[in-house]
Amino acid sequence: METKLYNISSADDACQLAEVASILRSGGLVGIPTETVYGLAANALDAQAVRKIFIAKGRPQDNPLIVHISSIEELYALAEEIPEKALFLANAFWPGPLTMVLKKSPAVPDEVTCSLPSVAVRMPSHKIANAIIKAAGLPLAAPSANLSGKPSPTTAAHVMHDMNGKIEAVVDGGECEVGVESTVITLCTEPPVLLRPGAVTLRQLKEVIGDVAADPSIFSKPGAELKPSSPGMKYKHYSPDAEVIIVKGELPAFEALARAAGEDAAVLCFDGEEKLFPGMTVFSFGAEDDVSAQAHRLFSILRRADELKVKRLFVRYPGTDGVGMAVYNRLLRAAAFRVVEV
Ligand code: TXA
Ligand code: MG
Repeated sequence: METKLYNISSADDACQLAEVASILRSGGLVGIPTETVYGLAANALDAQAVRKIFIAKGRPQDNPLIVHISSIEELYALAEEIPEKALFLANAFWPGPLTMVLKKSPAVPDEVTCSLPSVAVRMPSHKIANAIIKAAGLPLAAPSANLSGKPSPTTAAHVMHDMNGKIEAVVDGGECEVGVESTVITLCTEPPVLLRPGAVTLRQLKEVIGDVAADPSIFSKPGAELKPSSPGMKYKHYSPDAEVIIVKGELPAFEALARAAGEDAAVLCFDGEEKLFPGMTVFSFGAEDDVSAQAHRLFSILRRADELKVKRLFVRYPGTDGVGMAVYNRLLRAAAFRVVEV
């Protein structure tokens, strides 16, 4: 199939939005921009359309999808027994990069939730995403629009790279602002549990609803003894072809290790450190204390490393404060948990 590329820069572009909405209403798949990463969207109420998402991505059958809405009323059709804490969180962070896991309503097909009794719901703040949901008049199931296991896409070009020929359309709405996927919290437990860190931080969640636990799999390799509550956490993820190695330690030790690694190695360092690696492929993460910039750049750097056929990528340890928790969570998976202390 030919994948049609739409360039939509304004939510007033009614003509193109109507075309995209019609593809979604007839059961097609569309790559859409959001403020976090690009999503691969389908009508969440159409089991057949949702099945096509799993095929296009090569996604494991037991990894459920997030349903995207554009108004709070839509939440009541998807979830039941919604606790007060969920409404407080919606009030504080929606529209925005927060996904809430709630008790599912029978209206949500098992294909979306992989037969779990819960459903994940998010209201994106991206104007074009919001306009597409409204134009379609449907809740949209959308995982990140990458091939399963690859870094999430933060531009329409990334989506085309992974999905060209496999889906009906891609909407180019520019570069994603946040750069890492939404924060996922489950409200099906007491206290609620942070399942995946994102731009809405653990501290911000606690400020609104009090106690929130952090799932142990955020920084640990799920194994026999550690069963993740969010199925997505157990898979190899965000992996470029390059071997990624996270290096904890001072800059001189990092420099020595990376420079000894040879020509096909590359480094991912903080702004201002690039000059220490002459002759090597160097990516900069942003300033050492600018975790938002690091989140924004991470996935596109991992994709760029693949384009340049980097074999090994040595990465400076970014810390775990605030949004850094999300950056380190994604990096650990990209690195298959390889962390070196120097
Ligand atoms: O920012 C985002 O969330 C992006 C954009 C497109 O909205 N979407 C995204 O979707 O990251 P995906 O499919 O790549 O990640 C969804 C995560 C997975 O880790 C999945 O296991 C978890 O949410 N999830 C979905 N439904 C769940 C449920 N009922 N219970 C627990 N975890 C759930
Ligand atoms: Mg994903």
